[in-house]
Amino acid sequence: MVATIIDGKAFAAELRDKIAMQVARLKAEQGITPGLAVVLVGEDPASEVYVRSKGKQTVEVGMASFEYRLAAETSEAELLAVVDRLNADPEIHGILVQLPLPAHLDSDLVINRIDPAKDVDGFHISNVGLLGTGQKAMVPCTPLGCLMMLRAHHGSLSGLHAVVVGRSNIVGKPMAQLLLGDSCTVTIAHSRTRNLAEICRSADILVAAVGRPEMITGDWVKPGATVIDVGINRVADGDKTRLVGDVAFDSAAAVAGAITPVPGGVGPMTIACLLANTLTATCRANALPEPAGLTV
Ligand code: GUN
Repeated sequence: MVATIIDGKAFAAELRDKIAMQVARLKAEQGITPGLAVVLVGEDPASEVYVRSKGKQTVEVGMASFEYRLAAETSEAELLAVVDRLNADPEIHGILVQLPLPAHLDSDLVINRIDPAKDVDGFHISNVGLLGTGQKAMVPCTPLGCLMMLRAHHGSLSGLHAVVVGRSNIVGKPMAQLLLGDSCTVTIAHSRTRNLAEICRSADILVAAVGRPEMITGDWVKPGATVIDVGINRVADGDKTRLVGDVAFDSAAAVAGAITPVPGGVGPMTIACLLANTLTATCRANALPEPAGLTV
């Protein structure tokens, strides 16, 4: 079997087009420009790349982008004061504090200071609770992007066995909640799981989010299964480096029915979903109808 490639890059471009159209309408009809604020503390190079890319795409869909770059030694009180100011600013509809924060800052405290209505990452404890109880929430971007691609590929996910490998608050746990919400039978596995290969082989949908380069190989994949690879790992390749996922792509693609590549799969959908969440937050803040297809 040769797997269908799920083209996240194309999917993300289509979603961004839809968002850009809705943003133009919002501006023309309501005089409202959605605004997204990104806060970066310190100079982590990977975070710099993400933040630049987020800023560029925010502007490309017609939204206002605000960036706050704070020194690595910023105190907790100073960072909380920035969050408070953004919470109170009516021109800002979405707030994202880039993680990881420097070690002296308590990320739970900072994230939970964000107004839940502006929490476009969906990390605030109140959004986590709303998602877990099936209520209207801001949904974390990476799992939201994965669910959108799964729905587009499968139609209904009802009754399928989904195995999520990884239990992070950012991906694994919300992914499992979303799949459960779509009536999958969900198993959450992780690095300590016994018989991990066997459990993966029982999955109709296999989501890999463990952060271990190419850990999941073709012999862990049920023939015809859909494989979603959330991993982005930089590995040495001679005197260069290259990006690989948590799935060994070639061997898995020989067995799977469909698979997301790395790069060009889940990654592009994450930022597109951040923009979707910002638009959703803007509509909710102004009691306007939410355009279809932006969230679950
Ligand atoms: N760092 C890496 N990915 C993310 C993300 O999706 N949101 C935030 N806030 N920080 C991150």
